[in-house]
Amino acid sequence: MRKGLFLSVEGIDGAGKSSHVDFIMEYLQNKGLEVVKTREPGGTKLGEDIRNLLLNSESMNQTSELLLYFASRQELIEQVIVPNLNNGVCVLADRFVDSSIAYQGSGRMLGVEKVKTVYSLLEPHIKPDLTFLFDAPLHVAMERLNSARTKDRIEKESLEFFERVQNSYYKLAEENSDRIKLISTEGKFSETRKKITEYLDLLLEKQ
Ligand code: TYD
Repeated sequence: MRKGLFLSVEGIDGAGKSSHVDFIMEYLQNKGLEVVKTREPGGTKLGEDIRNLLLNSESMNQTSELLLYFASRQELIEQVIVPNLNNGVCVLADRFVDSSIAYQGSGRMLGVEKVKTVYSLLEPHIKPDLTFLFDAPLHVAMERLNSARTKDRIEKESLEFFERVQNSYYKLAEENSDRIKLISTEGKFSETRKKITEYLDLLLEKQ
């Protein structure tokens, strides 16, 4: 009974995702859509507690990490995403399952199949209509990350970790080219935004 559009934004830390999420939201609102923005991990009371554990614990078993990301996601799906979609509201998700595939499946090397198995347990099993994958060369993303605020547990990972995450995102984009749109954030801000609006307009035309 899903009526609203479901969009997600993805990318490695430092790829520039955060700079564009609010722009996407405002663009859709100006087109007359009601939009709710979510973030992962988090977005619900329990989800925010889980976020704190995930990002601030000193160490964590990798499978526990995977399951906690999904626990936060299941809460968000049930309490926020599905009710809004069913009411015809557009949901803009700051990260969704692709993050777990890239970060835990490939970054942590747990394997994509393991992540997909956990994904299959989510109720209901939903998928975004469109995903923006924000991307910058690894050294650019790492420079941005190093000059930013204090790093959380994931952001403290090695260059090799982020390389695996980025390559996993590229593979996902290749395998799901209808859904995932790769957007480089290396060029001018205005160019990035032009690309975003082109994809959004195409999506809205199809509605
Ligand atoms: P995010 O909120 O995008 O980072 P910030 O807003 O602090 O820039 O994401 C939090 C971190 O969690 C980020 O490093 C990516 C990581 N993450 C995973 O490893 N797996 C997941 O499934 C999700 C949703 C996020």
